[in-house]
Amino acid sequence: MQQLTMPFAGIHAATKPISTITMLDAGLFSHGEVYNEAARLALERRYEDILEETSKFSRKTVSFQTNKVKTLHSWFKYREGFSAELVELLLSEFDLPSGGTVLDPFAGSCTTLLQSKIMGYSAVGIELLPHCHLAWQAKSRAFEYNLEELKEIRALVKETAPSKSGLSFPHIKITETAFPDEVENEITAYTEWFDTLDNSENALILCKMLLMSVLEDVSYTRKDGQYLRWDSRAEKIIERNQIRVAQGKKPFKGIYKGQLPTVRNALIWKLDTVIQDIATLQQQPPVHSHEQLLIEGNTLWELPKLAANHFDAVITSPPYANRYDYTRTYALELAYLNIGQDIFDLRQSMLSCTVENKPKNGKLKQHYADINASNRYDKTIEIVKNNAALQEINRALERRNERGEINNRSILRMIDQYFTELTLIYMELYRVCKAGARVAFVNDNVRYGGEVIPVDLISTSLAESVGFEPVKIYVIPQRKGNSSQQMKRFGRRPLRKSITIWQKPL
Ligand SMILES: C[S@@+](CC[C@H](N)C(=O)[O-])C[C@H]1O[C@@H](n2cnc3c(N)ncnc32)[C@H](O)[C@@H]1O
Repeated sequence: MQQLTMPFAGIHAATKPISTITMLDAGLFSHGEVYNEAARLALERRYEDILEETSKFSRKTVSFQTNKVKTLHSWFKYREGFSAELVELLLSEFDLPSGGTVLDPFAGSCTTLLQSKIMGYSAVGIELLPHCHLAWQAKSRAFEYNLEELKEIRALVKETAPSKSGLSFPHIKITETAFPDEVENEITAYTEWFDTLDNSENALILCKMLLMSVLEDVSYTRKDGQYLRWDSRAEKIIERNQIRVAQGKKPFKGIYKGQLPTVRNALIWKLDTVIQDIATLQQQPPVHSHEQLLIEGNTLWELPKLAANHFDAVITSPPYANRYDYTRTYALELAYLNIGQDIFDLRQSMLSCTVENKPKNGKLKQHYADINASNRYDKTIEIVKNNAALQEINRALERRNERGEINNRSILRMIDQYFTELTLIYMELYRVCKAGARVAFVNDNVRYGGEVIPVDLISTSLAESVGFEPVKIYVIPQRKGNSSQQMKRFGRRPLRKSITIWQKPL
């Protein structure tokens, strides 16, 4: 694609149809025109009138960046989240009826639910991962905490240190040696101490969440994009490097996080923020909304069970098709919650976005049969099979794989499975939405082996096939870069980050 910068771009025009700034050319989707891209080009043309680059949304709004310092939303840092502003902007644009109900089938840290609550709307979320459940339990009680009780706990944390505990941190393989010994002792001591405090259930849940929220800060690890980076002082890295050096290899260069805070100090800082936030929030409690619920489970299983025609809007962001494994990045938090071996099941239950995900089709087919909804499952599979752009991508990736340009063959299965599962979600969202309801999906386009996968266009065409009317594809002005491997081999192809908006017809 040739990006033609218009002289007025960004000065007078806050929003502009993409068609005015782009020209479709060969090689737009398939680097070096290795594979046919006609179906993808056809989609780009089909949706060119609704593709709109807009400064209304920025990379900041579609990421967690502004939530880091935002009242309530900052309590648990969820890098994969979007901002409360995004939810606010979309809810205002959707103009919901008062008391309307919003759904987020990939709720994460529950930004959609919390912002809906603050704006007086009802909200329902579905989320698989337990650390998000705990974050929701603590944050959703913000208007109910007893401030005096929390101040007393803060004073207690400041004045006393819990005595050494007999507990050990419930490590899983990948979290071993993540903490210096003295820090690990402190974590288990606080875990035990909080359990014995004679406080309200609300306060105890908050303490448990706060301890979870400081784990990264006090550890030898840092979440960084897809990876958990390790400080070279961690025992695991020291041992690995001793082996490498003995084998004549260069030692692995870890990060250096500087002096780690004590758990006690980290907790006090967190308590200060939280107490201040609660004081602010409780001065302006939201209008009562009748439904605030997080369903703890797999959205592929839970959505089909929800009643039809219930929701006025959907605001969500699924995992992107980028191989990012949440169960690895949040291993510390999951281990703290004693998830143990269940981590493998959680990984497999996630929407298929890693090469390790095995197909779920057999189980899903059975689930739909069990709830007497096989027709919906069969119809979805037909839609996926008949989507020309998706099938073009499947074949293009196959070709790239034959040429040795895909570094892991399982990517092919992952992409096909990703869209199949998402189409089931689109089908269910259509069913559970009221007529006129709007649906917003934040997602990233991706590229594998030189083939661009326009997730925004394909999703919109799949959503259209299940019955939605495409309304807009908002494109964030700043594009996403490519991995250095992809750049070296296939050149630079900035990728869109989009918010697709669809509507269930009236
Ligand atoms: C991009 S994040 C959503 C972040 C959210 N918008 C926020 O602001 O925190 C996607 C979420 O989907 C969840 N998820 C992935 N597969 C799921 C599944 N099958 N069922 C339920 N949740 C799932 C992940 O655990 C993750 O929290």
